Amino acid sequence: MINQKENTIKAPRRPGIKLSQSKLDINDPNLRDVFEDIQGNILKSHGRAHSRHLFIQFTADADRNQKWLGKISPRLTSAMEQHKTALDYKNSGKEHLFTGLMLSYTGFKALGLEDKEIPDDKAFRAGMKNIEFRYDTGPGGVHKRTINPLNDNPKNWEAPFKEQIDALVILSYGGENLEPEKCENYLDKEVKKFKIEIAKTATIVAIEKGYTLRNKKGKTIEHFGFADGISNPVFFKSDFMNWEKKEGTELYDPSAPFGLIAVNDTGGRDTNTSFGSYFVYRKMQQNIKGFNDQTEQFASLLTNAVGREITTEFAGALLFGRHKDGSTLTSNLHETGKPLLNNFNYDKDTEGLICPFQSHVRKTNPRGDTNRKNKVPMSSERSHRIARRGISYGSKDLMPSSEWTDAGLLFLSCQSDIEQQFLVMQCGWSDNSNFINEGTGTDPITGEQNAGSDKTAKKWQLQIDGKKIEIDFSFKDLVKIRGGEYFFAPSISFCKKFNTNYS
Ligand code: HEM
Repeated sequence: MINQKENTIKAPRRPGIKLSQSKLDINDPNLRDVFEDIQGNILKSHGRAHSRHLFIQFTADADRNQKWLGKISPRLTSAMEQHKTALDYKNSGKEHLFTGLMLSYTGFKALGLEDKEIPDDKAFRAGMKNIEFRYDTGPGGVHKRTINPLNDNPKNWEAPFKEQIDALVILSYGGENLEPEKCENYLDKEVKKFKIEIAKTATIVAIEKGYTLRNKKGKTIEHFGFADGISNPVFFKSDFMNWEKKEGTELYDPSAPFGLIAVNDTGGRDTNTSFGSYFVYRKMQQNIKGFNDQTEQFASLLTNAVGREITTEFAGALLFGRHKDGSTLTSNLHETGKPLLNNFNYDKDTEGLICPFQSHVRKTNPRGDTNRKNKVPMSSERSHRIARRGISYGSKDLMPSSEWTDAGLLFLSCQSDIEQQFLVMQCGWSDNSNFINEGTGTDPITGEQNAGSDKTAKKWQLQIDGKKIEIDFSFKDLVKIRGGEYFFAPSISFCKKFNTNYS
């Protein structure tokens, strides 16, 4: 039974939004209710440089759990609030805390809700630890269903992730100009307050600290040193125009419909204006020394084959499909020859000799390969996109002397269908040694630990300095899964409808 506050949830004032709508305008008066009700960090990254991820397990009864949800609800940052705080930061430099909340299936249950009141994505309902559940990770969902397509072994996860996780609260703070120490202190204080508030309602099973890792030029990178956070589906017209101005969009259109990541939140105020999104969380530890050593060995094989020195940096770029600065390996094939970040496709590299088919970005966004190879309509290939909202964690040492330092990526993605988006991308593409061609091998960054080392990309067929070469080399153990869960980020009105009489 939902303990609802009467008469406090007003009926929507304006019409709603279509799931097919793209290039949204945050100032569109017809969409104001939508943007005020959907949480931030879904349609666009919240942009703060420091985060705390608080994983909680409810310990109280449904009534008290509901009241806590009601209590936190006014503090949740909506898409509209995120936009306003971004403007304020730009104009006055004032920092604002971002607060986000997501619930797992067990979290919804702990609120005393019945199944029919809980979001119905099957992966979300099964939970990430349920490795017996059968998924169809073939694009289009018409293939054989398999158990544990991620090849996860939760027994090997970090202890807190083996626990039942009911909710994830994200607190984020700090722009580029604020000293990291100040951000960390601010967040420590917020976490302290949060701990007091939640003490009689839930246990905090884990707190992950995330931060934006930057290179010397101030560019966001991940722990192997490569520029990150570049290509993501774009939902707002203003962001689309920025790409247009920067380098054009004729070779690759980054825009995406609202429905790629948003679903109706039937528990919210109104079906026209209340939306939520499914989230995938994966703590991914990165073996930095392993990456540095293996790319060095790969570079020396390349050097021998090509007959001139091939740098370790370039060898690493072949794994990602992008140079360290984020530009595509295929930039030179396009007319301008300028380094391109997103306005590119693989039309001029159909054999995968410049940007290898197994490289991380070509596996996770084939930009037309499935259409070329299997006549899959572009709209279908593009429907598997996800919006990445992850952040780095751990040591900042990018040249460690030992393997598996405590560092990596707190991977977070949002989508409207976990099986057809994240799972197709991870299992159907990255881990599938026969995607896109028989024997392509797995994605060397994220594919091997899921698919097993016998499936790795052994053969690298490349063209360097106009010379075709073939190298046998398998990358091993670059990323390890330390835990994770599937969540749903509900509409703010869903959380607000619960009684706030909490103490
Ligand atoms: C430790 C793990 C990972 C690392 C170090 C990593 C790193 C990167 C880097 C450096 C890029 C290129 C820059 C950019 O476009 O932002 C990228 C792009 C991307 N990654 Fe990952 N990633 C990881 C895990 C994943 C996972 C688990 C997925 C999904 C299953 C994923 C999906 C993508 C997608 C969709 C892109 C954009 C491709 C494009 O549109 O060109 N990544 N990643």
